[in-house]
Amino acid sequence: MDTKELRKLFERLTIREKIAQTIQLNGSLVVENDVMNTGPMQELGLPSDLNLYEIGSIYNVNDFEKLKRLQEQVLNKTPQQIPMLFMSDVIYGFRTIFPIPLAQAGSYDFDLIRKAAEITAKESYLNGLHIIFSPVLDLVRDPRWGRVMESPGEDVYTAKQFAKSVVTGYQGDCSKGVPENHVAACIKHFAGYGAPEAGREYNTVDLSNQRLFNEYLQPYQAALEAQTMLVMTAFNVLNGVPATGNKWLNRAILRERFGFDGVLVSDYAAVKELVPHGFAADEKEAAQKALEAGVDFDMMTSVYAKQLPELVNDPKIAALLDEAVWRILELKNHLGLFENPYRGLDLPQTGEILTEEAKATAVKLVEKSSVLLKNNGALPLQSEQKVAVIGPYGESRLTLGFWASVSGKPQDAISLKEGLLNNVAAEKLTFARGYNLFDSYDGFGPLKQGIERLNGPIEPAEQLFEEALTAAAAADVVVLTFGEQFLESGEGASKAKLGLPEKQVRLIRALKETGKPLVGVLYTGRPLVLTEVEPLFDSLLLVWYPGIMGGIGVANLLTGKSSPSARLSMTFPRSEGQIPIYGAQLSTGRPLASSSHSDRFVSKYIDESNEPLFKFGTGLTYAEFEGRWLTGVVTEQAVELDYRVKNQGALTADTAVHVYVKQAPAAIVRPVKRLVASAAVTLEAQEEKQLKSQIPLAELIFYDNEGNQHLATGDYQFILDIGGTEDFITLSL
Ligand code: BGC
Repeated sequence: MDTKELRKLFERLTIREKIAQTIQLNGSLVVENDVMNTGPMQELGLPSDLNLYEIGSIYNVNDFEKLKRLQEQVLNKTPQQIPMLFMSDVIYGFRTIFPIPLAQAGSYDFDLIRKAAEITAKESYLNGLHIIFSPVLDLVRDPRWGRVMESPGEDVYTAKQFAKSVVTGYQGDCSKGVPENHVAACIKHFAGYGAPEAGREYNTVDLSNQRLFNEYLQPYQAALEAQTMLVMTAFNVLNGVPATGNKWLNRAILRERFGFDGVLVSDYAAVKELVPHGFAADEKEAAQKALEAGVDFDMMTSVYAKQLPELVNDPKIAALLDEAVWRILELKNHLGLFENPYRGLDLPQTGEILTEEAKATAVKLVEKSSVLLKNNGALPLQSEQKVAVIGPYGESRLTLGFWASVSGKPQDAISLKEGLLNNVAAEKLTFARGYNLFDSYDGFGPLKQGIERLNGPIEPAEQLFEEALTAAAAADVVVLTFGEQFLESGEGASKAKLGLPEKQVRLIRALKETGKPLVGVLYTGRPLVLTEVEPLFDSLLLVWYPGIMGGIGVANLLTGKSSPSARLSMTFPRSEGQIPIYGAQLSTGRPLASSSHSDRFVSKYIDESNEPLFKFGTGLTYAEFEGRWLTGVVTEQAVELDYRVKNQGALTADTAVHVYVKQAPAAIVRPVKRLVASAAVTLEAQEEKQLKSQIPLAELIFYDNEGNQHLATGDYQFILDIGGTEDFITLSL
């Protein structure tokens, strides 16, 4: 509808109807609607005269039929007939669940990531969703925090590329509205949610301005430049002010400085939590502060619903409410809901979900995001070898990771066993569970029965251990799947200890003692501390949570049908005491490697190395790549570099090229070395290619603590890092 018509509609709205537009509830409270005036509504404290069909939005109903029925009711039971928005926590796939974002980011194949996002958007669209609550763009350098799995990791450049690819994949070209088969993105959690003190969920975040502007805000900013239509606030306090009530953050920075004119959604109950934060005396003040900060939607509380009717007697608050409602209506209009309230719901969807193309893309992404951390020659497996596959992930389908349970189904997953049987003769394979997946963490209470149904009954631990050793004894090579189970990471899963549980360590030791080559396949949602067990493995492949096609992709990598190429998106520490440890660290005045001070008085630990176990960017392949710079020039807009890359090996293989910069001295201390460009390259055996890397000067700009931008002049060293080889070129700016 044109803006004039939308204005007319807006002007017809009563205060009650306007306030209703700013409410967002979990759909389960609304869809079974004959009960809508009972229990849950009272529990939440929503006013009894609220017409639930009038609220602006619901989330996390992923059932096509239910959404269709609900929209019909909205149109039939509300005088203004404003379609409701349907949102959902679709984070890395709707039904085609891809590897977790932390894994995807390490592929450095941003076209493939965009393609996966397009598939996610299409499947979501075909199920009637309008908006999905992702990508998560919280930069994170602390693996104790459970939500690392949802984020693209520790690196600014990587997170920015990920942000752009996912937002454009979801939204398509949305200059004239969100096109068919696409949905609006809602980036989250603004801002700094990935940096809670001590890695403890929902804890305080304190970041200097230079850290915020140069690092933590950058990925969100990249998504804003890619036109994300929604932003979600964060639960945390940022520099003393809760993000959800933070006027400076959400108005001065998000809206004025970054130019965001879309919809700002609070995180779950975050408006109400301004009270326990000690930032608002009561719910009334919480409503006022959130609205003043520019929060348009109040997710899952009754604070706006109850407090705004009185607060709007103040004309300033009434104007803020109008602003919020107008933005929500504009979003509905941009989605084309006034023309077609049944967007995505009026199409036959059978056959369009979990397509062969979607599955093939998922396989490719598994292959490209699994990281070969170590290889003493035990991988790839050889066809004549008898292989004992030990550990619960041999047969388990619980490979989707925490958030996928909202719309994904473990039943869709292909197990590693099924994948291996595609590539290896059945008589060469034996399987033994080794230990129960849920041995070490039982925080799954009511889910237990469902898990047992999916994953088989819990077996006596000693029996599993003995079976594993018997299987290993009869094999030529042992492949052990191990790590975390999906409930150990995700929201509310911070950990103080990142080592493996004792049962797994004991099993690894016992398998090592068999003398058989030992291959580890690590399933995890976060970097773990593997210092004790790493020397016991001959080869180690990190597959994260690989999603529904994990079984095929991982089997292809293990058997050499494809070669690993991903690089770590996040550092693996040697011990928890090193955290935060990450690649782009700033220098100190007393660097360990080159200080003139005596050994004691340099920046180091007396009981631990400064080096991580696996640094950011680690990643081996089955081939041998080598690269070197050819030429480099600085133009008005960019640093342009030509390089050659060669596959010296005997197999076609992919590699992820990294370009780092060591920059000239500046008014603010900058990282010793940081990533500024990358490329995903495929080369046949012995093939050589000449490629270009363009680094926009904008990538070299930095902010000072007052938020001003600078570009330092002087010498910049660019490092070409391919397959473990490095080449250097220095250019002057
Ligand atoms: C999470 C958000 C999520 C929301 C709705 C919150 O607990 O922090 O990421 O989108 O719940 O499910």
